Amino acid sequence: MLDDEARQLRLLIDGVVDYAIYMIDTEGYLRSWNTGGERIKGYTASEVIGTHFSRFYTPEDAASGAPARGLRIARDEGRFTAEGWRVRKDGSRFHASVVIDPIWEDGELIGYAKVTRDTTERFRHEARLDHARDALLQSQKLEAIGKLTLGLAHDFNNLLNIIINSLELVDHYTPEPKAKRHLQGAMRAAERGALLTRQLLTFGKGHALVAERHAVERIIDEAMDTLQRACREGVTLHARLEDGLPEIDVDREQLEAALLNLVSNSRDAMPAEGHIAITATLRHCAPPYAADQPASRFVCIEVSDDGEGIAADDLARVFEPFFTTKDIGKGSGLGLSQVFGFARQSGGFADLKSAPGAGTTVSVCLPVPRESE
Ligand SMILES: Nc1ncnc2c1ncn2[C@@H]1O[C@H](COP(=O)(O)OP(=O)(O)O)[C@@H](O)[C@H]1O
Ligand SMILES: [Mg+2]
Repeated sequence: MLDDEARQLRLLIDGVVDYAIYMIDTEGYLRSWNTGGERIKGYTASEVIGTHFSRFYTPEDAASGAPARGLRIARDEGRFTAEGWRVRKDGSRFHASVVIDPIWEDGELIGYAKVTRDTTERFRHEARLDHARDALLQSQKLEAIGKLTLGLAHDFNNLLNIIINSLELVDHYTPEPKAKRHLQGAMRAAERGALLTRQLLTFGKGHALVAERHAVERIIDEAMDTLQRACREGVTLHARLEDGLPEIDVDREQLEAALLNLVSNSRDAMPAEGHIAITATLRHCAPPYAADQPASRFVCIEVSDDGEGIAADDLARVFEPFFTTKDIGKGSGLGLSQVFGFARQSGGFADLKSAPGAGTTVSVCLPVPRESE
């Protein structure tokens, strides 16, 4: 029988499953409950009716007086709306959109109607979009710097080659030992310069990759001695590589250079003792700079450390060429640029996660060739 208006209304409210709709009294104690409330927050009516609605707030929000503030604003301004995190019965948190309306009867406040919607999915979706947008901007910025760098690096490379060749010739014709020493010093400096410009070329994608089919585990295994030597005493290095990874097309020398750059960075981030782990796993995902692309397979090599981590302000800049926080002579700021350029030029991507005091993880994800899918 649906002739009784109050009963109809109760059935209607109770039938709503996507919204928690309930009444609270002027002090904030629950007077009613519906199926939506039970579904979203996990409590049955008998568990919550008569208890205070602040139980749905996070302890931080409850301590800061958020529940009472919501009621006050609803009463004074006619409505209170908010978005924020709330707590379910099982302790898990969900993102909620909340509306509180005051209920007046003959000019007297008799309670509040509260409507809560679970917006966790939408919130997560927007966060993912934000993340993808940031990643895209970041990669566009690096592309632009890369183009600029490439022009300069080409010119420098040519000049340095002329200098090196001429020095070699002069060295050949000079018997004088003292002059020879100076020449060799000049040659070493020019070669160091040439190495730097080669790294710049990689970042600007002007260095042609020599990709061949390789098993990544083998490359890492065989590089371990060199990588171990790059670590100081007190710094341990371990590799954990997934079995049965597909082979990929990769420039072995560049991959080795990237590993050395990453392990050296981790070592530098450890003032005393620490641990560096290298892992290789298969991942099925879309590249972060193009989250709308269909997911595909990547072999992801991760170098993580428990070092000092990276300050939030520096995070967006670490892949830029010449960005370094190290003393002059200690860092060129080209290590992560090489890693980034190499990963992108190989058709993959590089990603970095870090927080001060919580260590750093850099992933280099390289595409699995289509024919081995
Ligand atoms: N594993 C890491 N832990 C902490 N900081 C790091 C790490 N890797 C990179 N960084 C930061 O990023 C900067 C740039 O790194 P990189 O491009 O390799 O240049 P460089 O090592 O010559 O400074 C470093 O100076 C450092 O501040
Ligand atoms: Mg470095």
